[in-house]
Amino acid sequence: MTATTHSPGSRPPAAEPAQRTPVLSARGLVKTFGKVVGLDGVDLDLYPGEVLAVIGDNGAGKSTLIKCLTGALGPDAGELFLEGRPVHFKRPQDARDAGIETVYQTLAVAPALDIASNLFLGREKRRRGPLGSVFRMLDQKGMRREAAQALADLGIGTLQNVAQAVETLSGGQRQAVSVARAAAFGSKVIVLDEPTAALGVKESNQVLRLIEELRSRRLPVILISHNMPQVFEVADRIHIQRLGRCAGVVSPSSHTMAEAVAIMTGATTLERTPGHATS
Ligand SMILES: Nc1ncnc2c1ncn2[C@@H]1O[C@H](COP(=O)(O)OP(=O)(O)OP(=O)(O)O)[C@@H](O)[C@H]1O
Ligand SMILES: [Mg+2]
Repeated sequence: MTATTHSPGSRPPAAEPAQRTPVLSARGLVKTFGKVVGLDGVDLDLYPGEVLAVIGDNGAGKSTLIKCLTGALGPDAGELFLEGRPVHFKRPQDARDAGIETVYQTLAVAPALDIASNLFLGREKRRRGPLGSVFRMLDQKGMRREAAQALADLGIGTLQNVAQAVETLSGGQRQAVSVARAAAFGSKVIVLDEPTAALGVKESNQVLRLIEELRSRRLPVILISHNMPQVFEVADRIHIQRLGRCAGVVSPSSHTMAEAVAIMTGATTLERTPGHATS
């Protein structure tokens, strides 16, 4: 990939890719399922503080790519680098421990638990002293206080009571809890697989604002989405998956939505688009 030059009048890029070490890189990822080729030699780079969208038709390999990046699937071939160092994630927890938090489309929330408990799911805080270490008692107060703070930090104003059960929340509010959870614990990378697919306009906008908030904190985000207007609103760069391969990486200032979709569907190629020289 060559250096990105952005046309005047567009939003400045969060990262100047050529000059930085990617936070997360993949090289030559291959994943087959029997005879089906999920990924056929895919490279990906995620730079500090950027929102990288991953787009592609159904079956293009987006979810497989994300799963290979986050330890949910082991690639048949290829390498992963976190901050320039080779990493091997054998399971999702390995990626989490390394600072990569993923919000899957099928939300991993515990509906009967309250917001604070969901934020700390799997990372519960224990009370100090023997009450926590011997009797395993949870520090509910501390978790609620920190949960309220995490939500406030992200500007999530629609959740007033962290003691509210998640099953009583709206879809958008649940999504907000999941994103807040990822933001609270993902120290290096946040991965969001179709976070707005099931949401209405208002709720989608709330999630987009959250993504922008993460970017303003310099936390890089990988966003899988079919929603082109949203992708073009929020992404710094766009990785286009097609038939298990990367058909190109463009940016909202180098390419129009129609061009990105044409590359995605194979109606054109990156080389044949006018923005090619600057992407
Ligand atoms: N566990 C699996 N077993 C067999 N084939 C699989 C498996 N997972 C993915 N595939 C195949 O790999 C290819 C890529 O699938 P993937 O789920 O990554 O696509 P996607 O881009 O996420 O599509 P969508 O937009 O529909 O979510 C598809 O042909 C799919 O059928
Ligand atoms: Mg998918």
